[in-house]
Amino acid sequence: MPEAPAMHIDKGLDNTIIGESRKSFIDGQAGVLEYVGIDIDELARNSTFEEVVFLLWNDRLPTSSELESFEAELRLEYPLSQGVIEMIKGIPHEASPMHVLRTVVSGLALEDEECNDQSFESERRKAVRVLSKTPAIIAAFDRCRRGLEIVDPDPNLNIATNFLWMLNGEVPGEASARAIDVCLILHADHGINASTFAAMVTIATQSDMYSALTSAVGTLRGPLHGGANERVMNMLQSIGDLDDVEPFVMDSLKNKTKIMGFGHRVYKALDPRAKYLKTFAERIAEETGNTDLYVLSTRIQDIMDREVGAKGIYPNVDFYSATTYFSLGLAIDLFTPVFAMSRNAGWAAHSLEQHQDNRLIRPRCQYTGDHAVEYVPINER
Ligand code: SDX
Repeated sequence: MPEAPAMHIDKGLDNTIIGESRKSFIDGQAGVLEYVGIDIDELARNSTFEEVVFLLWNDRLPTSSELESFEAELRLEYPLSQGVIEMIKGIPHEASPMHVLRTVVSGLALEDEECNDQSFESERRKAVRVLSKTPAIIAAFDRCRRGLEIVDPDPNLNIATNFLWMLNGEVPGEASARAIDVCLILHADHGINASTFAAMVTIATQSDMYSALTSAVGTLRGPLHGGANERVMNMLQSIGDLDDVEPFVMDSLKNKTKIMGFGHRVYKALDPRAKYLKTFAERIAEETGNTDLYVLSTRIQDIMDREVGAKGIYPNVDFYSATTYFSLGLAIDLFTPVFAMSRNAGWAAHSLEQHQDNRLIRPRCQYTGDHAVEYVPINER
């Protein structure tokens, strides 16, 4: 009988490496993020979301002809079927958009005749369908709940521009479209975060990409993870006045209430995405006249830097994405769905990487219960 390997408990898996990956590199101490070795600042300045998806799925940048055909492949899959549109129309308008997204992404499997094909190419095609259709799912539900006609996707537009077109029924200005495109780049991948891990655990059972991406959406929704961006906006609106920032922050810290948009399991320096989003938020706030929220945000950051900066608690990706999305006119409960729209890229990248060198993911836990407990018949209990 082989000797059982030494085991240890690592609650939260803070110090556990579950495998190897070429997708993204994070230096939590230095505040560095790279996708396939390319610094996030370079990509935010020079790339597009579609090019970043290609990079994450192929471990290299595309040639111009490869990018052109990849974009064409994505755009072919923009439209929702009539069945999916009817499904969305039948959803109660009060439903949370993240519950809608999780439900409809799962529903895409019902009409995919290759849904049980477990080949790599088939799983990749499913990932294309989910990534290309997620913007339309979010926009269609938002239009329905506002009592507006659903706007069909326009295959002449990139993913970011098309999303705003479907949401608002008008083609957005260059600045707004580019702002969303850069936000999608910044949120596309981030190592083995909770929702990516959920997708990998699912695909590792040889389940399908729809199930993996559905697991991921459900996981991202939590306020300790992707759901934080909506709660940042709720927090900013509840504080309201600049003079109320200090008491709010100090009371929260005293009561050990987490300030949404701050802290990170890996970053103990400023999240490089937050750095970028902060300049974005400032520029868009000025252009749209929403400077109050931005000023509130910077005041919160100043106080948190003073009080807990030394503990490595800094703004994370969610803190300034909130003011950016709000200034772009997005409804607050669409902030996390937009995060999911982007993270489909990373979830699929890691799921495909797991698929190529798979091993069922099955950790242990330390049993702390009793043994040999007697079964007492119910009439004697
Ligand atoms: C995302 O993993 C990823 O990569 C995620 C993500 C991605 O791209 O996929 O980056 C996206 O999810 C960003 C995080 C969004 N979540 C939030 O903004 C929610 C608020 N943040 C916290 O809940 C917290 O910072 C976590 C959950 C993000 C990380 O927490 P950890 O690693 O479990 O750390 P912890 O809770 O053990 O806190 C350590 C200390 C504690 O103080 P002490 O008990 O040691 O005195 O730091 C304090 C905490 O109280 N702390 C905070 C805080 N976060 C940690 N104090 C106040 N406000 C906070 N936000």
